[in-house]
Amino acid sequence: MSVVPYKDKEGTKREQVAEMFDNISPKYDLLNHVLSAGVDIYWRKRAIKLLKKQQPKVILDIATGTGDFAIEALALNPEKVIGVDISEGMLAVGREKIAKLGKQDVITLQSGDSESLAFTNNYFDAIIVSFGVRNFQNLLAGLTEMNRVMKPGGTCVVVEFSKPKSFPFKQIYNFYFKYILPIIGKTVSKDSAAYTYLPESVQAFPDGEAFLDIYKKAGFINTKCISLTFGICSIYVGHK
Ligand SMILES: C[S@@+](CC[C@H](N)C(=O)[O-])C[C@H]1O[C@@H](n2cnc3c(N)ncnc32)[C@H](O)[C@@H]1O
Repeated sequence: MSVVPYKDKEGTKREQVAEMFDNISPKYDLLNHVLSAGVDIYWRKRAIKLLKKQQPKVILDIATGTGDFAIEALALNPEKVIGVDISEGMLAVGREKIAKLGKQDVITLQSGDSESLAFTNNYFDAIIVSFGVRNFQNLLAGLTEMNRVMKPGGTCVVVEFSKPKSFPFKQIYNFYFKYILPIIGKTVSKDSAAYTYLPESVQAFPDGEAFLDIYKKAGFINTKCISLTFGICSIYVGHK
């Protein structure tokens, strides 16, 4: 059974996830930076650095949300970054940010589902996704679509939460993640489920080697996992 945000409501995981992100979109950026003490910014920067050598010109940011990873990708000096997401609320916040930066000529945010992307095969030089894949209804289908639209020779960089393994950090972190974070998240976002769904979905998500197995099944080669910040976060690099 997949973890959904609103257990007492009807609807597929995709529908519930889109509804949840619509609900929390006005407070999403604030909560992200507060709850992670700003470390999320470092994780995205670190991931983008992995693409420096390749210098991709056309980039797809899957599950772009409010566009932070797409904006970070500007450091690569790309010609075009397209961000797709299933939540119109998140996209609206992102479009405002990009307009304020005056970067609408480079970054375009559009509605789109990772499991059925409206792009031709082998189109993008690189695919990036931060904190998105955990929310897919069908992880393998989403990753396979990402692989389909990436050019041979391209690089895919996935950033996602993972489970820290070592004592005592694991215990301290789990306490914070399960008990403190949901209270702050609920108070600020006013969505009672979103920040309970966060630790639950991380718990259920196949991290490390288990993710790499699915990544390879989706068609990615020369895959590797880079563990960050005591294993709270992992970057999964894959090629085609
Ligand atoms: C935690 S947010 C991450 C946003 C952004 N990438 C970041 O780093 O802040 C997850 C996003 O994934 C989107 N999402 C979930 N499933 C999706 C799918 N199948 N296709 C596209 N976007 C999806 C949600 O709507 C949400 O905006």
